[in-house]
Amino acid sequence: MVKITSENIVDLIQDIFERRGAESYLGEQVTMSQHMLQAAQCAEEAGADHTQIVAALLHDIGHYKNEIPESSLSNGVNNYHEEVGANFLEEYFPASVVEPIRQHVEAKRYLCAVRPEYFMRLSPASINTLNLQGGPMNEKEIREFEKNDYLEQCVNLRYWDEKAKDPERKCASFSYYRPLIESLVKN
Ligand SMILES: [Fe+2]
Repeated sequence: MVKITSENIVDLIQDIFERRGAESYLGEQVTMSQHMLQAAQCAEEAGADHTQIVAALLHDIGHYKNEIPESSLSNGVNNYHEEVGANFLEEYFPASVVEPIRQHVEAKRYLCAVRPEYFMRLSPASINTLNLQGGPMNEKEIREFEKNDYLEQCVNLRYWDEKAKDPERKCASFSYYRPLIESLVKN
């Protein structure tokens, strides 16, 4: 497998989108790339900054675990997709992109505990995975999560994640976002 560098990271990401994007997104009515592109579009429509748009676009990249070189997998504390994605990206993107990605499953557990209206937004597949992911947070977990420097970004990303499952929604292609991603790559 090729060695990732700040020069080829965006090509690698684009290649994953192009070759694997048409795969279905577990139990949802959209493909993986539709889901991630729609999440980015929701961020953009909400007036979010570039880091949040790119975080939304790349939040589920860790589902493509077998596309990611071993070297970035080995940093992981587990094989969960949010950790895989964040560990893959952390060397090349700022924490404001990476941390909301790392926390996007915890953010679901958090929001289910603190905002009852959020739970109503979950798709059946998302409710199903919530149970596997530990269910809503308890009080202690909520307090810990709220210490997060990126709390607001994590919460925003999670709302866009739930919204980005509309089979009818039209959105831009990956290449539309490419310059944005490139602008955030660390040297
Ligand atoms: Fe997602």
